[in-house]
Amino acid sequence: MAEWLQVIVRVTPEAVEAAGELLRQAGASGWESRGAETLVGYIPAGSGADARVAALQARVRALKEAGLDPGPAEVRTVVVTEQPWAEVWKAYFRPTRVGRVLLSPTWEQARPTPGEVLVRLDPGMAFGSGAHATTRLCLLALQEELRPGGRVLDVGTGSGILAIAAACLGASRALAVDNDPEVLPIARANAAQNGVADAITFIEGEIAAVTEGGWDVIVANIAPGPVMQAAAPARRLLASSGAFIGAGIPAARADEVRASLTESGLGVERTLQEAEWVAIVARKHRD
Ligand SMILES: C[S@@+](CC[C@H](N)C(=O)[O-])C[C@H]1O[C@@H](n2cnc3c(N)ncnc32)[C@H](O)[C@@H]1O
Repeated sequence: MAEWLQVIVRVTPEAVEAAGELLRQAGASGWESRGAETLVGYIPAGSGADARVAALQARVRALKEAGLDPGPAEVRTVVVTEQPWAEVWKAYFRPTRVGRVLLSPTWEQARPTPGEVLVRLDPGMAFGSGAHATTRLCLLALQEELRPGGRVLDVGTGSGILAIAAACLGASRALAVDNDPEVLPIARANAAQNGVADAITFIEGEIAAVTEGGWDVIVANIAPGPVMQAAAPARRLLASSGAFIGAGIPAARADEVRASLTESGLGVERTLQEAEWVAIVARKHRD
């Protein structure tokens, strides 16, 4: 039976996304977070695996040179007999309620109660099942900000979860962008699964690729750096009184991000927090 290495990486919350990318580059087809500081992925055991793990360890430690504090920068491995990654991942995705959104894997029969909106997803290797606090914070903020018929721009759409939830909650249109071309087919399939494919356009790129303006809500669940970089373009693209929701932000970086949003001309209104993670809601006031 084929063997796999389960690779367990422990870093600070601010370094989780970057360490996940390094884990991918080491050969993992995806990763999941367990708590705010631990991520887990699988790479095939055998030829070259030890060298790849050693290189991963060095690159995680070197995140410090990129300005990120990797904290313990610990990389451990456990040999496991073949277990399909998708099945391992599915074990962590259960129906979850976030406000009035009921998130469910496509392979479960979750029943919404009256007033709830069902969103069915198969995130595959894309981020965004609702299992992570950052996604849940964005879903809550989105429900607070979205008005019927509103228009939503989702930057870093991953599985498409936020754009799809917006459409299911009554947005008239959403534009979803991601700079990873591999997630877009997954996001499109999820939109079709929920019957909202016509309401959402998915494009590859960053916020700089968006020329259409007048958005009522712009949500960016990425990481502190890209959120701060997105603030000025977001301000230009927002409708008057539109809301910017920035997330993927460890609580320890909240002050820095709030200051940067203010600097970009957005009025910071509130911060939502779950465990180590925050989402910041800021508004465009009249020019
Ligand atoms: C943390 S996931 C969020 C997924 C989903 N929106 C959610 O809330 O669960 C971040 C996504 O942003 C994408 N991404 C990272 N940097 C980006 C950038 N600068 N512009 C656009 N997308 C980016 C990644 O490929 C990934 O799919």
